[in-house]
Amino acid sequence: MKPNTYHITTFGCQMNERDSETLAGLLEQLGYAKNQTRQEAQIILLNTCSIRDNADKRFFGTLGQLKRLKQNQPDRLVAVCGCMMQQDRIVETLKKKYPWVDLVFGTQNIDEFPELLHQAATQAKILIQTYEDRSDIVEGLPASRRYPFKAYINIMFGCDNFCTYCIVPYTRGREKSRSPEAILDEARRLADDGTKEIMLLGQNVNSYKGSGGVSFAALIRQLEEVAGIERIRFMTSHPKDLSTELIEAFRRPKALCPHIHLPVQSGSTAVLARMNRRYSRDQYLELVDRLRQANPEISLTTDIIVGFPGETEEDFQDTLSLIEQVRFSSAFTFIYSPREGTPAAGMDEQISEAVKHERFDRLVDLVNHISITENQKQVGKTVSVLVEGPSKTDNSLWSGRTPEHRLVNFRSLERPQSLSPAADLSGQIVRVRVSAANTFSLNGEAVSP
Ligand code: SAH
Ligand code: SF4
Ligand code: F3S
Repeated sequence: MKPNTYHITTFGCQMNERDSETLAGLLEQLGYAKNQTRQEAQIILLNTCSIRDNADKRFFGTLGQLKRLKQNQPDRLVAVCGCMMQQDRIVETLKKKYPWVDLVFGTQNIDEFPELLHQAATQAKILIQTYEDRSDIVEGLPASRRYPFKAYINIMFGCDNFCTYCIVPYTRGREKSRSPEAILDEARRLADDGTKEIMLLGQNVNSYKGSGGVSFAALIRQLEEVAGIERIRFMTSHPKDLSTELIEAFRRPKALCPHIHLPVQSGSTAVLARMNRRYSRDQYLELVDRLRQANPEISLTTDIIVGFPGETEEDFQDTLSLIEQVRFSSAFTFIYSPREGTPAAGMDEQISEAVKHERFDRLVDLVNHISITENQKQVGKTVSVLVEGPSKTDNSLWSGRTPEHRLVNFRSLERPQSLSPAADLSGQIVRVRVSAANTFSLNGEAVSP
């Protein structure tokens, strides 16, 4: 074990990734250094997700592996936090079955982490600190960020929508918006440090309400004026709150990227009603039309759930036909997973595992078929790519994303394996000619600007 080191494992969504950046920042302020492996770290932190049952299972699997590490070296500290800790049944299980955990804290206690760490290190029994909800937002916490050229910015926390399948409103509390000043200040400081791309985060960014009545679209317009910020993205927008003002922002965007992740969940109006999504199939399709009228280049991505309670073959066919109609660039597909305490978990007519899997396979086939067909339309175009680093699948190629969020792997005279810092394209925006299309990515060659 290396003293004064930490390792964080992050499960779940961008919110959790952003929280982990704050937790890492706090640890570094206390003098701990990041360690690449969990086995060697003195402080081991697991930041958990509860969105589907397999997320829970992965967490308990990982926790099981930590038992021996902790027994061999008791001066290590094992801490767990995140969405799972907001549920009493999970905390009870930890107390009973995982006594090697030292500290448990919730999504509302992140700023207290240094103090909790100190307390946990000095007491023998497990320390538990979770709040149900909190109305204030703590500003000014440090962050240790993953990339110097692109960054997440929280614009709001929590969710008030209570989609009937979803655990998030119970784990993240009520919606709270950060002030536009705090957001702009963070963006300016990031731009000064070399950040080119920002991703605005919230469970439903369209319901952002800044102090002084600043809407989400108005916030974007203000952020577009920050010098150095070349790309602005956001996650996630709920179709029921997508405003005309935001659709119009796509018409003549400056830094706003022509991409929107607009989760549809189902193509059946009856299922959408039982999900409490508060829009119909037709209303969703109308939004898509209006977005494409405002900006024909806009790329659309989505989330889809199969096997929601009571979903008939006909409902499922409605989902398939909506996908054919919209032609999403890509889609995240999920098998419905009942979450204890949510209304859908108690609904009659739960769908059998066999039917869910069979529908899921048909769904994925269609989504992938459309992704590759849409990607083929990009071949021959020249696109601009913000380079993230060497490609994960072939390290003789660079990898990055277009403004539409398409993943591009490309060849360049500057080789990723080169030891010369001048050849490092990471963080640069490079023009790339697309030469081939795959389901999840494009291939190409860098062209001179
Ligand atoms: N706030 C975002 C989504 C956050 S969760 C939104 O409203 O769009 C990300 C995705 O996980 C959801 O869009 C949904 O498709 C999926 N999801 C949430 N709960 C689920 C469950 N119980 N079973 C399966 N998928 C689920
Ligand atoms: Fe969950 Fe719905 Fe809130 Fe998204 S909008 S986090 S799916 S309750
Ligand atoms: Fe998971 Fe919590 Fe995000 S449940 S998806 S980490 S908000």
